[in-house]
Amino acid sequence: MHIKRQAQIIYPKDTAAILMWGDIGGDVRVLESGIGQGATSIAILRALSGQGRLTSYEVRQDFADMSKKFINGFFGRTPENHTIEIRDIYHGIDGEYDRIVLDLPEPWHTVGHMQTSLVNGGIVVSYIPTVLQVKTMVDTLKESGWSTQIETFELILRPWKVDGLSVRPEMWMYNHSAFLVSARKLAEPNAKLLEKRGGYIKKGGQ
Ligand SMILES: C[S@@+](CC[C@H](N)C(=O)[O-])C[C@H]1O[C@@H](n2cnc3c(N)ncnc32)[C@H](O)[C@@H]1O
Repeated sequence: MHIKRQAQIIYPKDTAAILMWGDIGGDVRVLESGIGQGATSIAILRALSGQGRLTSYEVRQDFADMSKKFINGFFGRTPENHTIEIRDIYHGIDGEYDRIVLDLPEPWHTVGHMQTSLVNGGIVVSYIPTVLQVKTMVDTLKESGWSTQIETFELILRPWKVDGLSVRPEMWMYNHSAFLVSARKLAEPNAKLLEKRGGYIKKGGQ
């Protein structure tokens, strides 16, 4: 929290939810994009605890270098189960992943790639700052036909002051950071679901 930063990081209140909603831990293959400062990578690597594998796609070399330094500094070594690839995730995903974590300006460009790169039953969690981005992401997930259990939520943390007889909420609170959108991949694109969602989207759009 206290390092000088060049990229906006995901704060612990949201990172905690990403790890639980994304069911990240143990021997799973996780794809993350982009890496930014590497704060989310650190949380994922801690949850993996030396098992599984984290691959981070980052479009900017300078952010990849900076985050690598930050991650190595945190762990005191280079985690063996972490790879950073300099590439644009909007152009495609290679290989197969059990979990995907996105912190991108336009995450919906990855939904088509996840049809082949996310395993059946796999989970994607996307950190999304504004409602218009949320709407596009959720609509794209629904239209894809491969996603189910789509959930959208935000977390508001209200700290309390507990000091002698002064027991009350703090004057300030962590208000908006971003929304989280999660979804799970179905074994096969479901034609009926797609049809139903097509109807829903048309109705909503009128
Ligand atoms: C807000 S930062 C991520 C911060 C990170 N979650 C953390 O907690 O430190 C967003 C990152 O996504 C990268 N990015 C943006 N578009 C991308 C793309 N199409 N493919 C890969 N990385 C991308 C940016 O360069 C930036 O490093």
